[in-house]
Amino acid sequence: MARVALVTGGSRGIGEAISKKLQADGYDVAATYAGNDEKAAAFTAETGIKTYKWNVADYDASAAGIAQVEADMGPIDVVVANAGITRDAPFHRMTPEQWKEVIDTNLTGVFNTVHPVWPGMRERKFGRVIVISSINGQKGQFGQVNYAATKAGDLGIVKSLAQEGARAGITANAICPGYIATEMVMAIPEEVRQKIVAGIPAGRLGEPDEIARCVAFLASDDAGFINGSTISANGAQFFV
Ligand code: CAA
Repeated sequence: MARVALVTGGSRGIGEAISKKLQADGYDVAATYAGNDEKAAAFTAETGIKTYKWNVADYDASAAGIAQVEADMGPIDVVVANAGITRDAPFHRMTPEQWKEVIDTNLTGVFNTVHPVWPGMRERKFGRVIVISSINGQKGQFGQVNYAATKAGDLGIVKSLAQEGARAGITANAICPGYIATEMVMAIPEEVRQKIVAGIPAGRLGEPDEIARCVAFLASDDAGFINGSTISANGAQFFV
């Protein structure tokens, strides 16, 4: 029987590539989205992958949504916590709202996504938790005190979950993408983005598929002994 994979933020950007790759690898995939109904409908029409709408920042909505996915598709074996937002501003201009929105979505959102599936994974003695962090959680970034805090926090989450899940057959790992050609990166002012690309030794942005392939590997049986790790995929922009 095919394994079931849940991808949050799975209808756009890196998440879209992850959903499609896991489907191609034989998983039954469910993708969540927060707001863009039109894009989600187009994604489902194109791929046949069912989408579910909830806000990952809301625990009750996440728990209810996940219960619905499991009722429709069976127990979730692979969870990819990918949903994330930016609210960039230099710290002196960052508002408490910008701080809170990013923490609630990118950090608490990971708790809200993994916590409801964790007991089932423990019972079934199998699980794959994959969190999409960021190069900016590793190195920090001008204008991203909020975002970098959440992405660094993701690494603490997976290192802790790895220790708790290991004996129950669950692995938890992070991927730190560098700058990938998605709407999120294209929203950076052109001038600023050019300077960023100039600092990437590969001389280009990454492609969403390059992250999706990392996810597919971590989800696979081949990666069973990789636990608590971080895969950096950033074109040599930064080394830990
Ligand atoms: N290092 C040092 N100084 C910098 C800087 C940097 N990286 N970026 C900007 N500055 C300086 C500017 O030179 C400028 O200085 P002066 O006033 O002396 O000229 C000053 O800071 C203000 O810069 P801006 O005019 O750009 O200020 P702004 O308020 O319009 O914008 C910003 C600030 C929102 C942070 C903008 O610079 C920006 O969007 N930067 C990109 C941040 C970024 O990389 N975000 C990543 C988004 S993609 C993502 O998050 C995915 C992922 O995981 C990688």
